[in-house]
Amino acid sequence: MEHLKPLIKENTDRFINELMDLLRIPSVSADSKYKPDVLRAAEFIRDKFKAAGADSCEVIPTAGHPVVYAEKIIDPSKPTILVYGHYDVQPPDPMDLWHSPPFEPVIKDEKIYARGACDDKGQVYMHIKAFELMMSTNSLPCNVKFMIEGEEEVGSENLGPFVIANKERLKSDVILISDTSIIANDVPSITTGLRGLAYLEVEVTGADHDLHSGTYGGGVANPINVLCKMIAALKDDNNHITIPGFYNDVEVISEEERKAMARAPFSMDAYKKHLGIDEVEGEAGYSTLERTTIRPTLDVNGIWGGYIGEGSKTVLPSKAFAKISMRLVPHQTVDNTVEQFIAYFKSLAPPSVKVEVRPHHGGAPVVTPTDSLAYRAASMAMEKTFGVTPIPARAGGSIPIVALFEKELGLKSLMMGFGLNTDLIHSPNEHYGIFNFLKGIETIPYFYEHFTAISAEK
Ligand code: BES
Ligand code: MN
Ligand code: MN
Repeated sequence: MEHLKPLIKENTDRFINELMDLLRIPSVSADSKYKPDVLRAAEFIRDKFKAAGADSCEVIPTAGHPVVYAEKIIDPSKPTILVYGHYDVQPPDPMDLWHSPPFEPVIKDEKIYARGACDDKGQVYMHIKAFELMMSTNSLPCNVKFMIEGEEEVGSENLGPFVIANKERLKSDVILISDTSIIANDVPSITTGLRGLAYLEVEVTGADHDLHSGTYGGGVANPINVLCKMIAALKDDNNHITIPGFYNDVEVISEEERKAMARAPFSMDAYKKHLGIDEVEGEAGYSTLERTTIRPTLDVNGIWGGYIGEGSKTVLPSKAFAKISMRLVPHQTVDNTVEQFIAYFKSLAPPSVKVEVRPHHGGAPVVTPTDSLAYRAASMAMEKTFGVTPIPARAGGSIPIVALFEKELGLKSLMMGFGLNTDLIHSPNEHYGIFNFLKGIETIPYFYEHFTAISAEK
């Protein structure tokens, strides 16, 4: 795939400009007011696959946002790679913290700034351009299928049924995903695990209407105060989660594995500086890297209730709410965790309030092997383009559909992402390095080549 290098150079400006066109489409899956834009992004992607020479390029409707499908079958006796990614993005807010508008991409310091630049439009676009280059030079070495969805950021709830209904069409030998990070631009890594996610919303009700906080204050439960107390009780002084049974199924990581993890380069100073914090915090007995990858968590994502307008209002609110998520590790399950949470959370409520808990979406944790053909192919590909052997590394984030791929298609995913943890995904000023974008385009064809070659050896 050496022949592609000069072509990447020649086409760099065009590739970046096309990506910026995609980034201008505000495909926010969470917010229904963007529904037409989400569709527009899907059509944009489909058209680019078509222009690159793919067959069966389709925008396929689902009960939610559509799936983009495209494929190129060159020879049924050759292996087939199924590329998965997502074209939907997180909501851009808080808007006032962006240095430039989230859907008006700009390049600054060799980085493209826009919502979705890294997660995941920039990384999806690397695959489209890598495919285009292999097609235009007649060097696609195997079959490829693309499934790019529009609901990853809201839990992929309609993709599961799509996958189950399209098992034959999706038949392949490996799933290739670029939606994760490398450790650093000079320390490439391959993602070998994702945490799962259980997400719930809680509602605490005191009196059945808002009250004057002088007339009633002191005599009636304040649901916000109560909710805060209940949330505080979910962790102890060591930051262990107190839900009974929560850790029962948590995979015990061997001392050797923990030692291997500790060898990955990590600068605590750089970490704190990037976050603007004086000290880190987390579960006693574990390193920051462990806390954010191999250990489960519980976090409040949002909390509201009462008066939050200008000035002050003396009110004893009737209701308080919070959105709470738990990141799961092997072998915790969403259903079990949700059940444990609900039982415990309700038990924390004093008789002066009523509590409702509503589960949202979830996803199971995954681990992927380092001795697979796909891992070897990815390792060789990255070694070729980065000049060093990549390190296996687990990620703290979640991609809910990956566990389902394994269950329904019987396929492991190979997660070869090119982002950096400092790319501010989901935050204001999300960006993606041009180095990373181009490195992805360069590396992907080598993965195709090596995967095809090793599969033939077998
Ligand atoms: N690409 C991320 C997941 C990710 C980020 C994995 C960084 C590894 C490293 C993905 O788009 C994401 O944000 N997933 C959500 C899932 C949720 C919305 C169901 C997450 O992890 O919060
Ligand atoms: Mn993503
Ligand atoms: Mn995301």
